[in-house]
Amino acid sequence: MRISVIGCGYLGAVHASAMAELGHDVIGIDVDEGKIAALAAGRPPFFEPGLPEILTSATATGRLRFSTDLADAADAEVHFVAVGTPQAADTHAADLRYVDAAFTSLLPHLADGALVVGKSTVPVGTAARLAALIAREAPGARLAWNPEFLREGYAVKDTLEPDRLVYGVAAGEQGMAAASVLDQVYRAALEAGTPRIVTDYATAELVKVAANAFLATKISFINAMSEIADVTGADVTALADAIGHDARIGRRFLNAGVGFGGGCLPKDIRAFTARADELGRGDSLAFLKEVDTINLRQRQRVVDLAVDALDGSVFRKKVAVLGVTFKPESDDVRDSPALDVAVTLKGLGADVVATDPEGIENARLRHPQLDYTSSAREALRDADLVVLVTEWREYRALDPEHTAGLVRGRRIIDGRNVLDPVAWRAAGWAYRGIGRP
Ligand code: UDX
Repeated sequence: MRISVIGCGYLGAVHASAMAELGHDVIGIDVDEGKIAALAAGRPPFFEPGLPEILTSATATGRLRFSTDLADAADAEVHFVAVGTPQAADTHAADLRYVDAAFTSLLPHLADGALVVGKSTVPVGTAARLAALIAREAPGARLAWNPEFLREGYAVKDTLEPDRLVYGVAAGEQGMAAASVLDQVYRAALEAGTPRIVTDYATAELVKVAANAFLATKISFINAMSEIADVTGADVTALADAIGHDARIGRRFLNAGVGFGGGCLPKDIRAFTARADELGRGDSLAFLKEVDTINLRQRQRVVDLAVDALDGSVFRKKVAVLGVTFKPESDDVRDSPALDVAVTLKGLGADVVATDPEGIENARLRHPQLDYTSSAREALRDADLVVLVTEWREYRALDPEHTAGLVRGRRIIDGRNVLDPVAWRAAGWAYRGIGRP
């Protein structure tokens, strides 16, 4: 099929490449000339495992092109809109300016029979509003809402082999026609048995935010348990293992630590509560405010542990911060708990040296005041305290004996509960995890 993908960020660039990989003829559109030039040259403008490979192979076949000009997308049968919906500057609501701009600029280029597919995470009600806009301005075109559930770090796999497909479509024949177009787009996944849910616009929009709200709640739940564990001497890791064996609960997303961040979970739960307030149902989602509060408290908790480990003051102490991205296998530092901890410690007068395998460039743009090094060894050298806040493989694999030879003080805060307390203590370290004795 002839497909356009509007917005080539973490979501759109992967979606465009994956669609081309599946054999479709794809054009990726973005207003950012630098991004488009990089993608056209086969260089992803961000770190995502597996993306360079499919980007290069798809551009080489000629099935994947990039442009800043929407007119180049005019002959596409399907237009995916994958622009960002960040948190608004002054409220918790989503900022829809990029979605609105994408739709408005796309309207004059829509061919008769074209299908516009929203992928961006939007407040419930947005699709109905945009469907009305299309009906008025480009009556030959249709709209579907098809949320994505990709995780950074696994985005290529999640796009090629999604665990479910959700189509939000209009009622009646129009909606059925839209669903069958999407069936052609996703034929490979459907043939592999991927579950497909065809529903209305509002449900499709809600599926996305409900999923993220649930995941965020799960993480804050276990972090709340870790606070109780801390004052009772219990071990939240063993607790998570034990309750995780209950298939109704499940072990995944029950890792206590410095909490969730990134470009999705934090802003999505805030936008969801803001939308519920607008709908007069603020009470229904009031618990998500608590989920957010618990989550932000974890960042302060790691800072408090650091201060405590240095007997009440980090002033002029060298602190090695391991990790700046919001999670491993990503260079994304948006709303990163790790970076927040580094910045707060720096504000308290610590000589912070932060390190990360992929995130330094992005971190430096946001926080140029921090010292960075790409070498973990360099960060650890003569440190009075080590704070592990992003569980990259190389930090999980640190050897306590060897690391002891690099630092000045054997003190470590394991902000992700990924190290073995017994081994570290045996090597003479003062080890502190989150909710672990
Ligand atoms: C998330 C959703 O998982 C994905 O389905 C959606 O499409 C976009 O948002 P992503 O932002 O890539 O994906 O990250 P995810 O893997 O969900 O992790 C989110 C945050 O939660 C990270 O900061 C991670 O470190 C944290 N986390 C995750 C925990 O603190 N504990 C856990 O047990 C799991």
